[in-house]
Amino acid sequence: MNGETMSARQNADRLQAPALLSVQDLSVTYSSGSISALESVSLTVHEGEIVALLGVNGAGKTTLLRAISGLLGLHGGAIRAGSIRYRSADISSSSSWSRVRQGISISLEGRRIFGDLSVVDNLKAGGYTTSRAGTAKALEQVMELFPVLGRKRDLAAGLLSGGEQQMLAVGRALMQGPRLLLLDEPSLGLAPLIVKQIMEIVRDINAGGCSVLLIEQNVTAALSVANYAYVLDSRRVEHHGSAAALLADDTLRDLYLGVAAPTAPRGAENGALR
Ligand SMILES: Nc1ncnc2c1ncn2[C@@H]1O[C@H](COP(=O)(O)OP(=O)(O)OP(=O)(O)O)[C@@H](O)[C@H]1O
Ligand SMILES: [Mg+2]
Repeated sequence: MNGETMSARQNADRLQAPALLSVQDLSVTYSSGSISALESVSLTVHEGEIVALLGVNGAGKTTLLRAISGLLGLHGGAIRAGSIRYRSADISSSSSWSRVRQGISISLEGRRIFGDLSVVDNLKAGGYTTSRAGTAKALEQVMELFPVLGRKRDLAAGLLSGGEQQMLAVGRALMQGPRLLLLDEPSLGLAPLIVKQIMEIVRDINAGGCSVLLIEQNVTAALSVANYAYVLDSRRVEHHGSAAALLADDTLRDLYLGVAAPTAPRGAENGALR
């Protein structure tokens, strides 16, 4: 199968899967409306997908994740227009707590772990919505996914390396057994080998049945695991398409992605790049 056919196939498959998350024409402001952070943004994550959210600093990526997880208010932000539907229901006015219960988990930018608490206590703190038995099972699963966290379970989390702390942050978000995982720059500041490891774990999480919306500055890493990607620029979605189509678009690569031309055979230009 050549690249073009594969890309077209990927997009057709994408449209056939049911939408898990659907953001429609979303506009968000901060500081009582004086700062516009998103303007008429639309994005879909289908069941089973890994979708990458790319874009320069300040484009609005974290804001979009805050809106989806219900954390906007905490940061002085508000939805001005548009809707956020999860499993067909409009969740834009439900609490962050209820969204977690419905299966939406977020791992925030900048790790945000409790440095004085042990690794295992950090993980348990992430399982706050589940029963004791549920927490024990989730702990077991997270430690299977991240063996290093099992080996260092009693160590103060502040003593973990940067990569291990990032794994802890992702592991904590998994403690609620999410159906949709929102990841804000999980590879930030990590060495290439660890980035690769984290992306492999993202793939494993996805193979376990969890859809992922992944913010990444490391475009190559993100597009190596994502099947679809959106590029935000100045508060708007400027481009979207299959990962293969984005990588094959010369202008996009130069303008936004800052990555080298793909070594795989070209030919995905007819993918659903809009
Ligand atoms: N709490 C806040 N109050 C006011 N303005 C904010 C707040 N948080 C973000 N902004 C503004 O909203 C815009 C989008 O910020 P956001 O953090 O969503 O960007 P980003 O794409 O995640 O950037 P980065 O790649 O640097 O993390 C920026 O102009 C930022 O200054
Ligand atoms: Mg951000």
